[in-house]
Amino acid sequence: MGIDSINFIAEVKDSFLELPTDSYDTRLAQIKFLKQELPHQIERLEHIFEDYYTGKLSEVVLDPFLAEIPTEKLETFHRIQPFRRRGIAQFHLSMSNGMQLEEQEVIPFCQRTTSYLNLPRHFQPLDSKMTHRPDYQKLIKGVAGLVKEQRDFNEMTISLHHMHTFATPNTVKASNTPEGIHQDGADFIASAIVVERYNVGGGVSRIYGEDKQTLLLETCLSPGEGICQPDEGSQLWHEVTPIYRADETLPLGYRSIIGLDMYLN
Ligand SMILES: [Fe+2]
Repeated sequence: MGIDSINFIAEVKDSFLELPTDSYDTRLAQIKFLKQELPHQIERLEHIFEDYYTGKLSEVVLDPFLAEIPTEKLETFHRIQPFRRRGIAQFHLSMSNGMQLEEQEVIPFCQRTTSYLNLPRHFQPLDSKMTHRPDYQKLIKGVAGLVKEQRDFNEMTISLHHMHTFATPNTVKASNTPEGIHQDGADFIASAIVVERYNVGGGVSRIYGEDKQTLLLETCLSPGEGICQPDEGSQLWHEVTPIYRADETLPLGYRSIIGLDMYLN
């Protein structure tokens, strides 16, 4: 793609450490835990799920459920902590006069799926100093060029994510796909362009066929490598395995990636 990947990675990698943590993950894991521990409360938990997950209801709404949890299991609940940092940007790419890329205002992120991921999520916009870097724009255009080789299009809307998954001694499960094997509801995706892996094991990318069981590809991407694939309406499904600290004597392990959801028209 004509990018000096070593220089690019060196200059952008630390910005991932400063992104805000994703509280949607935590709220989802808390509800999952309560459903598992209190099966007789599943209906009530489902009733509050949407408003709690989207942040309309505060954690106080969980108090009546937590009152039913035995003390020894409360510790497990309180160990549910954020495991991801995230920033977002939105672009429009037009092919009308060469490849024209324009950054757009970030709107609440909704994935085109039938799961909870279609609920609106607000993430911090990425710094324009980052997204206006010439090599950054080259990267986006390069990925769009890969898509163009597979399917013709005139316009593309791109939802771009910086995601930093981290594991600490208290982390229960640091997964970048807590939803499991899935599609993202975009026409094409770059599910992960890896920027950094630090003291980390796991984070193995897997692509499955339409039965969601036949493993077609399993690979551990190194920094500078990525995967671009068709998504919604294709036969391909994907996930990435949770990460863990490779050296447990160190307090932190992490994996930083750039992901693109691309919608064609
Ligand atoms: Fe995905």
